[in-house]
Amino acid sequence: MDGLNRRGALKAGGILGAAGAFTLVAPTVRAQPWTWSPQGSVAGSGSGVDPMTVWDPEADQLVAGLIDRGEVPRVNELLRTWTTNGQALPAGLPSDLRDFMEYARRLPQWADQAALTTAIEFNKKRGLYLGVLYGFASGMMSTVIPREARSVYYSKGGHDLKDRISKTAKLGYDIGSNNAYAADGEMVVTCVKTRLVHAAVRHLLPQSPHWVQSADESIPISQNDIMVTWHSLPTTVMKHLTNWKVPIPHHESEAFLHSWQVAAHLLGVRDEYIPKSWPDANSQSAQVLDPILAATPEGAKLADRLLGLGANIDFAILSKPVLGAFTRFLLGDKIADGLAIPREPVWDPLLQVAWGPFIAVREGLLSAVPPMSDPYWLLDEFLRKAALTYLAELRLPISIELPTMNRDM
Ligand code: HEM
Repeated sequence: MDGLNRRGALKAGGILGAAGAFTLVAPTVRAQPWTWSPQGSVAGSGSGVDPMTVWDPEADQLVAGLIDRGEVPRVNELLRTWTTNGQALPAGLPSDLRDFMEYARRLPQWADQAALTTAIEFNKKRGLYLGVLYGFASGMMSTVIPREARSVYYSKGGHDLKDRISKTAKLGYDIGSNNAYAADGEMVVTCVKTRLVHAAVRHLLPQSPHWVQSADESIPISQNDIMVTWHSLPTTVMKHLTNWKVPIPHHESEAFLHSWQVAAHLLGVRDEYIPKSWPDANSQSAQVLDPILAATPEGAKLADRLLGLGANIDFAILSKPVLGAFTRFLLGDKIADGLAIPREPVWDPLLQVAWGPFIAVREGLLSAVPPMSDPYWLLDEFLRKAALTYLAELRLPISIELPTMNRDM
């Protein structure tokens, strides 16, 4: 395997930099063998092969060729004009890329248009909670997914976190936008471009001595890794909404799941790994996500920058300490301590005690009577501004581009 050889050669050749000094130990293999059954997937059956050993061969080979032949700048220029789902691909693309994209942009046979429409309604209704949860539950969680943190840190986008966040935010925005998967929406375009970017990263990162030194794998972004990150998005968001007792009708919750199932398919995940229901998603998440969460030096740096973003919106209510307390509240002490987030004597207990009643009041399930009314307004202000922080990173137009190199360290 090329990646493996290159990794061995780099290590043996002593090309490794000081980055090695940072490396913390992370699990290299599963603690338990892969047992999640494809019967719990949208495909309903499958080989049962461990997704940690599966990448995206069609896209990977194609994009590696584009990079090696120096065709990426031209492709990026052409793809900048491809922005909406229903739009024809631009003329002039290499024919193998065009063929692949025509195939990759098709919605799966099992896509359910009615459910996708319901998902849009759900996103509209719950935009505020979704904004804050994508940003501070999923976003912060991504910094304690060791493989993702390292890939992001050492890839080209790692040097400009703000830019990277705005691009990832675009996916959260597109999936929640009015026409997500419709002809005038952008979700299909975003997913297909992201699939190509991930293929580029698989080719490039094994050439980074810094990544090679810190990584516990030879090729990044396996199908397992994509599902890990996927669970940090919809599965985690739905877990919090459920814990907060936000009333969500069954068909809306199913529709939200469906919109993310379609996204996983378009990102190149095999149907046999895409959970068919929330219980199946939760059981897969318990196997792939929960056991691997751990702080790394790279993740801690990314988290620190993420916590600093709020100050641009409102220094007082979105200061690093307040966002840190919210992260601790959402993700727990183990993760917060791992990221060296200080404890907050006021906000930690306030969130623990008042968040549940605050949501109940917002949802009309409880009336705000003193002494609840003061924390209510404070938390409401926080909720609105925190969601805005995340959306403010979304400076349109954003163009997702294939990288041609790793981060310049
Ligand atoms: C790029 C989303 C999984 C690592 C991107 C981009 C998006 C995205 C929208 C393009 C934005 C950009 O260019 O920065 C997602 C989603 C995932 C997922 C929705 C799963 C559901 C992963 C995983 C890893 C990863 C599992 C690593 C283990 C990266 C890297 C880039 C990238 C390194 C390129 C950053 C750069 O250098 O520009 N991803 N991603 N992603 N993703 Fe993912």
